[in-house]
Amino acid sequence: MPAVLFRSPNDSAEAWRQSLTERIPGVDFRAWPEVGDPAEVGFALVWKVPPLFLKQFPNLKAICSLGQGVDHIFADPELPRGPHIIRLVDPWMGRAMAEWVLLQVLRFHRQGIEYEALQRARDWQQLPAPETSKRRVGILGLGALGAEAATTVAALGFDVAGWSRTRKSIPNVTSYAGPEELDAFLARTDILCGLLPLTPETTDLMDAKLFAKLPKGAFVVNSGRGAQLVEEDLLAALDSGYLAGASLDVFRTEPLPKDHAFWGHPKVQVWPHVSAQTNADSGADQVAENIRRVFAGEPPINTVDPDRQY
Ligand code: NAP
Ligand code: GLV
Repeated sequence: MPAVLFRSPNDSAEAWRQSLTERIPGVDFRAWPEVGDPAEVGFALVWKVPPLFLKQFPNLKAICSLGQGVDHIFADPELPRGPHIIRLVDPWMGRAMAEWVLLQVLRFHRQGIEYEALQRARDWQQLPAPETSKRRVGILGLGALGAEAATTVAALGFDVAGWSRTRKSIPNVTSYAGPEELDAFLARTDILCGLLPLTPETTDLMDAKLFAKLPKGAFVVNSGRGAQLVEEDLLAALDSGYLAGASLDVFRTEPLPKDHAFWGHPKVQVWPHVSAQTNADSGADQVAENIRRVFAGEPPINTVDPDRQY
């Protein structure tokens, strides 16, 4: 059996070696830099490897992301053509992301930002209670993660819509599709949650023009990818008072530089890219199944279309 290469700055090689060995006894698991002969590697399990790294393996049959996103793979200017591109689609991560989105929605909806400021001022004030059914939540991206987040938020009675490339039919979630319906989606959205993959079409999507199409006082959440949001435009919209606040889990530069304005901004909550972390237990069944399929010459599951890049 060809070897499985593992390389990630985030994930534990030992945890993945154990999870995969339990599922495929005798698997030839090689954690970088102990790779041996590159020609023996047939399957790469990777997260954010340096550009040009993958082209040194001439017999790769598949490249599998150690995450749901694959932008880090397509960022390689010399990505080998031919190997399947595979991603994780892990229901455990879907649940984790839905929890995190719900946390942000509830914090804004229940006036967490205002009460946190009142506490800092030792000021006992009771604000008028908000109405759940009148709070309009909008999810950018209705894929594996966005659909579950939308369903979870809708279950509490929020007015939920989602925006995707193609039309969706999800109970209690209004579907907006394509660039021509984006403005109408934004105009009805008080809490915007970004859950899009990073592609040429979604890069810089959340900019000053987009923020201006949200109602005044809207709240912005992003856990898709940092490069989808123009950070200076968000700061300007927050500082002018047009946007009420933001919760961000992803950034253009990660880790977020120590001197970045977001760290100390009173209207921004910073999360260190943890809303849905890769899990070597819950993710291992599908990876093991794909190793088996790829080495047996069968089509893998959870593949990504290289033309769409997600
Ligand atoms: P997915 O299943 O591929 O869903 C992507 C969704 O985005 C789909 O609904 C797709 O529309 C929509 N979309 C893509 N391009 C679009 C465009 N140009 N205009 C409108 N809609 C567009 O992806 P996923 O598994 O939900 O993951 C989404 C992203 O979340 C990942 O790519 C990754 O960047 C991020 N993520 C972050 C974390 C974290 O911890 N922060 C964890 C996991 C993933 P269609 O359905 O019509 O194709
Ligand atoms: C995390 O960001 C992922 O893409 O899984």
